Amino acid sequence: MSTPPPIAMLAELTHRCPLSCPYCSNPVEMARQDQELDTATWARVFREAADLGVLQLHLSGGEPASRRDLVDLVIAARDAGLYTNLITSGIGLTQKRLAELDAAGLDHVQLSLQGTNPEMADEIGGYKGGFKRKMQVAEWIGDIGFPLTLNAVLHRRNLHQLPRALEMAQEMGARRIEVATVQFHGWALKNRDALMPTRDQAVEATKIVTQARKALKGRLVIDYVPADYHEDYPKRCMGGWGTSGLNVIPDGQVLPCHAAQSIPHLTFDRVQDASLHDIWYKGAAFNAYRGTDWMADPCKTCERKTIDFGGCRCQAMAIVGDASATDPVCIKSPHHGALQAQADTHAAQEDAPLTYRVAPPKQSEPAE
Ligand code: SF4
Ligand code: FES
Repeated sequence: MSTPPPIAMLAELTHRCPLSCPYCSNPVEMARQDQELDTATWARVFREAADLGVLQLHLSGGEPASRRDLVDLVIAARDAGLYTNLITSGIGLTQKRLAELDAAGLDHVQLSLQGTNPEMADEIGGYKGGFKRKMQVAEWIGDIGFPLTLNAVLHRRNLHQLPRALEMAQEMGARRIEVATVQFHGWALKNRDALMPTRDQAVEATKIVTQARKALKGRLVIDYVPADYHEDYPKRCMGGWGTSGLNVIPDGQVLPCHAAQSIPHLTFDRVQDASLHDIWYKGAAFNAYRGTDWMADPCKTCERKTIDFGGCRCQAMAIVGDASATDPVCIKSPHHGALQAQADTHAAQEDAPLTYRVAPPKQSEPAE
């Protein structure tokens, strides 16, 4: 099967972020500010992405508003012909900056929601006053008229707020809400005891989403990422490895998914050394789990293998210790029962404290 071009690119402009969410999926070892790509290099990468066939550019982080050149980056992306989506917590965006982003041609904003009230949101984000600030930013976004997606990240502590999150999306005039149950990658793996939803919560969330999809049809699109430790079949992660999207991280490495650095035997090409075209089609990391040839049983002989592509490679690595194993979420995996038991054990740790994301140092440490 020939490799299609990618449709979307996630540009992680920086790992810097004013929040310190315990579910952060960025790697435990983050890129420092002095390792970040400069404006001109990002602009070149955006052009290469467009030439390669990318249509949508997601500007992310960390917090992309931490980049002083954000407006210039949006201009560069629009000049390259890309549809631009800003994925932000809202912290660091002023009314003036939003107006500048609008003038620069920004197409869409995706605003994260840590909780539906200040108590929850500020506790989870580890940022006092963050909720109030975010609500102000949401109002400015509405005034300008940016198409908006609300991204509600849910876990054991705030899943009861899902109905209110759905109401808030409508009040803000969002066209879409992403109801995303926490995925345990990167820093989030440290917080499974504190954040793992209970099985009952996972079932309830699916019920609420199913009902809301019916009730809000034509008014609000609901994307749903369920609590997959409690599911019987895995998600098709990244639309299939090396199939539809790529991530460029702050120091220029290009990854097939945001957690790919957790697979120790992979090495990643950098945009400083190779073209995005060659990295996508010829890069070793992109070809490692592309298609179905790498699969072993049960995936190899499974009728769902081109539906979910064996699930998530990073989850197989984290839980089974083998990135080419069947995602242990799958009922056909020999590790499925153990994973479900593990999920229940995590979910029962009622008093587990939150371990907040720690920011990277600003500069490299001076040599001894
Ligand atoms: Fe998907 Fe593999 Fe499970 Fe089949 S065995 S459903 S391909 S993860
Ligand atoms: Fe890496 Fe799923 S996060 S394949």
